[in-house]
Amino acid sequence: MSKRRPLVAGNWKMNGSRAESAALVDAVRRGVGPGARVEVALCPPFILIPLVAEKLAGGPVSWGGQSLDTHKSGAYTGEVSGPMLKDYDCAYVIVGHSERRALYGENDGVVAEKFGAAQAAGLVPILCVGETLAEREANRTEAVVARQLDAVVNKHGIASLKNAVLAYEPVWAIGTGKTATPQQAQDVHRFIRGRLAARDQAVADGLRILYGGSVKSANAKELFGQPDIDGGLIGGASLNAEEFLLICRAAD
Ligand code: PGA
Repeated sequence: MSKRRPLVAGNWKMNGSRAESAALVDAVRRGVGPGARVEVALCPPFILIPLVAEKLAGGPVSWGGQSLDTHKSGAYTGEVSGPMLKDYDCAYVIVGHSERRALYGENDGVVAEKFGAAQAAGLVPILCVGETLAEREANRTEAVVARQLDAVVNKHGIASLKNAVLAYEPVWAIGTGKTATPQQAQDVHRFIRGRLAARDQAVADGLRILYGGSVKSANAKELFGQPDIDGGLIGGASLNAEEFLLICRAAD
């Protein structure tokens, strides 16, 4: 069990009509009690943020974006900035999700810039790191995760992680139904925390590191029971209120 306040964040990805999203967010809000130890957040597609913000305002569940542009405003057709997310009272924004890295060409440098843009706007970045199956099989998991982390820490300093959340998301486990075993996940979480502790013990101790990749109610309790796993980033299962709430309870 983690010493830090657990966070369970739903990543809806590119899913949900207005009607479906309204029903989902209402059910999550009803299901999360004000006194819960676990913190719950929802990250819908940009266009649904106003709806979600209106429904969650004043309650215990927070919300955020799934990405942001590195610029504050200007001629960047199709993009959404950190200040725009903040204007809708987003608390969080996901940065460096493996789908952004793989499908939209976001390399470590861009991810580090986005991390800085998020913090400059007063948002807490949820920085995603994780290896592909080929990288794991080549025994490169730690090297890849270290490279992804260092890109951010070298640019913004270790203290920038006081206002951030990490998510370890092995690419081979995302949306595949193949979850990392609790021990596989814990091993990487411990590696990450240890690496950061070498720079600043207090920052490493306080940092929440979420696990993501096919988390379900059936495996959440065991994953969240690991000492260095401080909650989850939930994709597919966050689209079902009942299932998502069971996962939240598993972290409570
Ligand atoms: P999944 O996605 O839970 O559907 O595997 C996790 C994520 O991409 O954040």
